[in-house]
Amino acid sequence: MPLKSKHLLGLDGMSREDITLILDTAVSFREVLERPIKKVPPLQGKTVANMFFENSTRTRLSFELAERRLSADVLAFQATGSSVSKGETLKDTARNIEAMKVDMVVMRHSAAGAPHYLVRVIDANVINAGDGGHEHPTQALLDMYTIREKLGRLEGLHVCIVGDIAHSRVARSNIYGLRTMGARVSVCGPATMIPRDIERLGVDVYHHIDDVLPTVDALNVLRIQMERDAGRLFPTLREYHNFYGVTRQRLEKAGRAITILHPGPINRDVEISADVADSEHSVILQQVLNGVAVRMAVLYLLSSRN
Ligand code: CP
Repeated sequence: MPLKSKHLLGLDGMSREDITLILDTAVSFREVLERPIKKVPPLQGKTVANMFFENSTRTRLSFELAERRLSADVLAFQATGSSVSKGETLKDTARNIEAMKVDMVVMRHSAAGAPHYLVRVIDANVINAGDGGHEHPTQALLDMYTIREKLGRLEGLHVCIVGDIAHSRVARSNIYGLRTMGARVSVCGPATMIPRDIERLGVDVYHHIDDVLPTVDALNVLRIQMERDAGRLFPTLREYHNFYGVTRQRLEKAGRAITILHPGPINRDVEISADVADSEHSVILQQVLNGVAVRMAVLYLLSSRN
């Protein structure tokens, strides 16, 4: 069964069948990552360009590793040090890279909608690796994979996303994906961080984390994005930690084993206390490992469509 779309731009509108296909395919690739030789041939002869116009550690390295594990040739482009500094446009940059016979493009960009623009100017498959505050589909897919791996299902689970929902592409993609897969989704944060009409996406809204924790199965903790001036949305980091920080005390008070996710990078002792991040309920490093398998699945499924 091929994926319905030639590109992966977001999870908004992606069918349950396509999400399930990606997660199920990732299970096979996850097994490959446990082998002594962690390499398989499906993308042999294919070239993938990773175009990163914004900083990244996990997503960039994870895609690069996924491509190499699938035997693809990899082109790494970073805006810093490129001809973007001489004024070259996104369109010209992408078309020049594609002219080198590139089959697939993975792009991270600070502008929401940049990958949607890219599919109009190049023929290669495009994968969105995070576009501004819009979507980060492979992050949500690896989050869903990790929850499913740990808890056995997504349908009927209660997943809460806590933090700056308004500026989070991770939150948006998780809401779309988890709702499609039949999970109950809540968001929690101060009013300054919750979009006014978020209920329209089918989520429940909480402003007090202690109110939601007693019914939550998995908690996805978002990073306070200091580089996006998040400090203007609450008085001090200490206060944010006091009201919304995920601490062992809070989790114990909730009285249930809650699976803790975080897309990274984490601000220890701000949105999550260091001991919770390293606790037995944290799946943060499993998310990173599963991310490679999920990205292998996406690359493989889009390439087989061609
Ligand atoms: N989760 C995530 O997108 O991390 P990076 O910004 O390091 O890629």
